[in-house]
Amino acid sequence: MITREEALKLVVERVSNVNLRKHMWSTEACLRAIAPRFEGDPDLWGIAGLMHDVSYEDAEKAGGDLMLHAEMGAGLAEEKGLDREGVQAIRAHAGGVPLESDLDKVLYAVDPLTGLIVAAALMHPEKLAGLQTRSVLKRFKDKRFAAGADRDQIRTCSDFGMELEEFVSVCLEAMRGIRDELGL
Ligand SMILES: [Fe+2]
Repeated sequence: MITREEALKLVVERVSNVNLRKHMWSTEACLRAIAPRFEGDPDLWGIAGLMHDVSYEDAEKAGGDLMLHAEMGAGLAEEKGLDREGVQAIRAHAGGVPLESDLDKVLYAVDPLTGLIVAAALMHPEKLAGLQTRSVLKRFKDKRFAAGADRDQIRTCSDFGMELEEFVSVCLEAMRGIRDELGL
């Protein structure tokens, strides 16, 4: 399987937008934290998260839509030797393809949550270090706040048996663990 180092190199080569890179690091951290609950391999889950938007800019340049970035990313991940389960989760994360495995479902729900947490952290004087789950939940309820973070998509955490509060709490903690890399 592709190593984390190789995956990281690919992301840095292909994604110039620093915020998008940080979004992928955040997604990785969340998936690594959640994997053990589903007896998932934290490396496989983490690398799938790390790579999930690797072709975002390539798809944009090709004039493609959101579905194309997922398809291209899955193709690249497959070519580089990511396990099938990870490839499939990347393919499915933009919707349009049925979510089947736990990894598919968790990646789909985590994707918009990282954006909500980043936006909430930016509003906090101590950023991620001081941000509490309850503040994120308050922001969640305010539909105008970080409106791009699809609340319904985040709420699909219930499909894999996590309450919203627990889901936010685990992801917040995971992102706090990499706050230096995120500059938050
Ligand atoms: Fe994403």
